[in-house]
Amino acid sequence: MAFESFRDWVDQLDRAGELRRITQPVATELEITELADREMKQPGGGKALLIEKPTINGVVSPFPVAINTLGSHKRMAMSMGAESVDAVAKELGALMKAKPPTSLRETMRLLSLALDLRHARPKTVRSGPCKDVIHRYDAPSTRTGPWPAAPDWQKGTSPTPPTLADLPILKCWPLDGGRFITLPCVVTRDPDTGDRNLGMYRVQVYDNRTTGMHWQLQKVAARHGRRYYEKGERMPVAIFLGGDPMFPFAATAPMPDGLDEFLLAGYLRKKSIELVKCETNDLEVPANADFVIEGYIDPKEPLRDEGPFGDHTGYYTLPEPYPVFHVTAITHRKDAVYPATIVGIPPMEDFYIGGASVKLFLPIFQMNFPEIVDIALPAEGVFHNLVFVSIKKTYPMQAYKIMHGLWGMGQMMFSKYIVVVDAEVDVHNTSEVLFHLTANTDPQRDSVFTKGPSDVLDHATSEIAIGSKLGIDATKKLPGEGFKRAWPPLIQMDAAVKAKVEQIFGTVR
Ligand SMILES: Cc1cc2nc3c(=O)[nH]c(=O)nc-3n(C[C@H](O)[C@H](O)[C@H](O)COP(=O)(O)O)c2cc1C
Repeated sequence: MAFESFRDWVDQLDRAGELRRITQPVATELEITELADREMKQPGGGKALLIEKPTINGVVSPFPVAINTLGSHKRMAMSMGAESVDAVAKELGALMKAKPPTSLRETMRLLSLALDLRHARPKTVRSGPCKDVIHRYDAPSTRTGPWPAAPDWQKGTSPTPPTLADLPILKCWPLDGGRFITLPCVVTRDPDTGDRNLGMYRVQVYDNRTTGMHWQLQKVAARHGRRYYEKGERMPVAIFLGGDPMFPFAATAPMPDGLDEFLLAGYLRKKSIELVKCETNDLEVPANADFVIEGYIDPKEPLRDEGPFGDHTGYYTLPEPYPVFHVTAITHRKDAVYPATIVGIPPMEDFYIGGASVKLFLPIFQMNFPEIVDIALPAEGVFHNLVFVSIKKTYPMQAYKIMHGLWGMGQMMFSKYIVVVDAEVDVHNTSEVLFHLTANTDPQRDSVFTKGPSDVLDHATSEIAIGSKLGIDATKKLPGEGFKRAWPPLIQMDAAVKAKVEQIFGTVR
């Protein structure tokens, strides 16, 4: 199902009883976080919130804020126009199974073909609602004050000059280094191949015209950036917000480098994405985006400290140097809704976004490792810290093959702890996994330490971006693994007795 704007998506949530409208003024500084955090901590993720009167330094912003719109399994499925994310994953898996791949590269080629099958390829159009209001800041300044002359504004085509300071950008947590755009879709291009990338990298507002650009070391845009630095060429960047909710989802999805996330978004929304060229650079953004912030990064400029920021990890990420982004234009819809999220101590909205990615990419993991039954990233592990995998084990040391295989697959490289369990264990039930983990392991024998790249947000590693990993084999041990004893049966009641008791006592246990 395709949504024509973020407002369209919010209206759909409203009709489905999935939205709470907040009509009182709420400050973008900390108060929206407190409100959203309480909602996100409700069982199942609570409701989406539309803050109709967000205030910036006490003044009501012209743009409402929508938050937690993807923060439940139901809303994630609704955003894809599906009954469940599992159903979407099944369909994608079936498309790819037409011809089983023989290698990881082949899997990626197949994924690209599968996505391409259904309206997925984006098409370029001349204009769109994201350009309802255009403010360019690339002309020479004739105005004193924080903003240079904005030609459209002077011509009267837009009544007010929106600056980053006019957007309801949140200051999320008390020790944050400032305001952060928390749901930005960032478009960059590989200067060598022309391949486009869409990634979600938070954006710290330094002032009206400059921001940080927090693409982490191992991310695709950071690789693009390094090539611009090597070439000494100015790097065009476009940040957009809103439009179809599949855009922010696709921006967070761990698509392989070189595969366009717009293909994934187009596939999921079942409608080709219309792209328009930016006003001040050659990048393209969705015509139906709510806001577009255009600009560039100058490789000649030194990096600048970004942060602190209350992060996914539940801790503040301390300042680290990142590139500086210069704004050359802001364009937006007349009726734009500002999309936001917050991250912090789990569970948060990102748990549902990450969970949907894992479900969607499960068929790809399974194509490379057919023994994998299911994978879960429990909320407590904030994405990569903790991974539970269930497998159909048929030969000795298979659990270790899976751990090492996963550590070698894209962003699974960040996984700190991988626990492998047998097929019948429900990996989405943390209590069940912990029971099998503690019951089925001899700690020294069943664990392996290794080293690798780590998430730069991990404050516990001695050095940034490198660290160790622990894999635990919590599967039933086989004689071929040196296990000499008999493995005892798990306690289970007879099916007939269960049925009889159920009949007599109903659901009472
Ligand atoms: C809410 C949210 C915020 C994120 N912020 C960042 C960020 O600031 N920097 C970053 O490198 N990754 C961030 N991520 C993770 C990336 O979006 C994710 O790794 C994505 O796959 C990167 O795209 P890429 O592989 O095209 O680089 C965030 C994810 C979510 C859900």
